[in-house]
Amino acid sequence: MKVFVTGGAGYIGSHTLVALLAAGHEVCVFDNYSNSSPVSLARVRQLTNRDMEMVEGDICDIDGLTKTLTAFAPDAVVHFAGLKAVGESNDIPLRYYQTNVTGTMNLLAAMDAAECRRIVFSSSATVYGEAQYLPFDEAHPIGPTNPYGRTKAMAEGVIGDWASATPGASAVLLRYFNPVGAHESGRIGEDPQDIPNNLMPFVAQVAVGRRDRLSIFGDDYDTRDGTGERDYIHVVDLAAAHLAAIEYAAHTTGCEAINVGTGQGITVKELVAAYERACGHPIAFEIAPRRPGDVASSYAATAKARELLDWRAALDVDAMCASSWRWQSENPHGFDGD
Ligand code: NAD
Ligand code: WQD
Repeated sequence: MKVFVTGGAGYIGSHTLVALLAAGHEVCVFDNYSNSSPVSLARVRQLTNRDMEMVEGDICDIDGLTKTLTAFAPDAVVHFAGLKAVGESNDIPLRYYQTNVTGTMNLLAAMDAAECRRIVFSSSATVYGEAQYLPFDEAHPIGPTNPYGRTKAMAEGVIGDWASATPGASAVLLRYFNPVGAHESGRIGEDPQDIPNNLMPFVAQVAVGRRDRLSIFGDDYDTRDGTGERDYIHVVDLAAAHLAAIEYAAHTTGCEAINVGTGQGITVKELVAAYERACGHPIAFEIAPRRPGDVASSYAATAKARELLDWRAALDVDAMCASSWRWQSENPHGFDGD
């Protein structure tokens, strides 16, 4: 298939490109590199020994987007491009709505112009908000608690309405839980531009000596060891879920939201212990106050992904940490080293 990938140079996008190219798909990447580097794309090409089209552009520029998408004439779109920092979304909400909601509307309009009817969208478990029960299944009420989460919930709604109104359209909303890890080669991985917001890249930077110690945000939650519990999903498993979602969209119509997680919660202390096994030395940490807005536990119900996509996570927390450590130790400054 011809697959148009917005935000393909980023963390999850680059790993998905490897899977797409390895499966023989023809790819065009559309990215403005606002949170990534074209070096990741060069490494994807090296890893797969496959070429792809790469266009520097912004999903907020509807004319440029439409021109590029129409010229490529894709069979399917995978839409990663967006802003993703929860804290920042409180400070600059309009930029989040502009990029994540208007950008998605632009993309759907461009798809209409190109008569492309299939989309796989990067949504997030954050759309569920406070858990009314666990595990989160796809029927759990939507109630995001921050602007970032609201942009994802709104984009889901827009895509759902587009799918209802467009004959033959098929949309898959993949609700990722906590993506971590890296490609096993150590050539691509997560490369945060600033102080990492998320646990795994922060732990990785402590392990490699870029930061002194991890602050664990609270050890008095109602969990096994008092620290927050999350459903970490290996980015390589996540990439495979996108492949399965494209195939699914190719023979169905309508719009489905599908969780992508392992179904298993891991606490902060358990993740730190796994990282210590991977890197072979202790990770310094201190216990800090709870982070505002955090919940005790979040993990996925995974039956729908198994039933509709025939997909399930295969890689465990040790594989997540080992791959993260290989990437971090071989690229201590991310893609900046090139
Ligand atoms: P990322 O920042 O590494 O990748 C996003 C890519 O989109 C980057 O390459 C960036 O340069 C590009 N981009 C941003 N704004 C753009 C614009 N206006 N036009 C064109 N390109 C633009 O993030 P990621 O972790 O790979 O996340 C990919 C998607 O998955 C995002 O939509 C994110 O919200 C969603 N998501 C991520 C997580 C996570 O924890 N990483 C969890 C759930 C959902
Ligand atoms: C995980 C656990 C923290 C950092 C976020 C977004 C969500 C989604 C994934 C995009 C929690 C603890 C963290 C640190 C810590 N992204 N922690 N010290 O909050 O589950 O989800 O990323 O869609 O929308 O909200 O992930 O990695 O930030 O935190 O103790 O320095 O690690 O308290 O228990 P979170 P996270």
